[in-house]
Amino acid sequence: MGKLNGKKINTAVFISGRGSNLKSLVKNSKKKNSPVIIRLVISNNLKAKGLIYAKKLKIKTYVTDYKNVNISEKKLLEKLFKYKINLICLAGFMKILSGNFIKKFKKPILNIHPSLLPKYKGLSTHKKVINNKEKYSGSTVHLVSSKLDSGHIILQKKIKVSKFDNEKTLEKKILKIEHILYPKAIKKFLASL
Ligand code: GAR
Repeated sequence: MGKLNGKKINTAVFISGRGSNLKSLVKNSKKKNSPVIIRLVISNNLKAKGLIYAKKLKIKTYVTDYKNVNISEKKLLEKLFKYKINLICLAGFMKILSGNFIKKFKKPILNIHPSLLPKYKGLSTHKKVINNKEKYSGSTVHLVSSKLDSGHIILQKKIKVSKFDNEKTLEKKILKIEHILYPKAIKKFLASL
């Protein structure tokens, strides 16, 4: 796939909060050799900070409250088809997409997770890493499957956890590497298609 006939891949980024990975994805997508264009930002949270950033850049946004998963996912699919989205990048999206959604979307869905998967799936990753006195942690970009944080791994970056690290410092360190890792993983993945 890479670039289809020189065309960039229409991409939607899903967020739930701060959106620092969204920012880095948008910045990278502006580069000439980027294979993607961010067409749509989706959130389950009206107050997600990343939405403000998206709106500033005049990227279309869509929020659905997820009170009813089936209804929300149906609305999401409609939007994704409307904007001819061919790739979804989850970036701090804290809802789990159903198997039905993944099947119906039919196109690839990527996620970034702040641990060295398969270790520390799910929530509170940094807390668990600190409590277990791990020497290393990191981040993983993987394909989304119907099993949580278990899809095919595309790229990982490992960092050292120092004995002075706490949840906050570790989160900061990992976010910094994620901002480089995610765009790189997207490129690698699309080039492999
Ligand atoms: C990132 O560290 C991302 O890996 C993590 O949430 C953070 C979002 O930060 N994702 C998950 O934990 C998914 N299970 P951001 O909103 O600043 O991009």
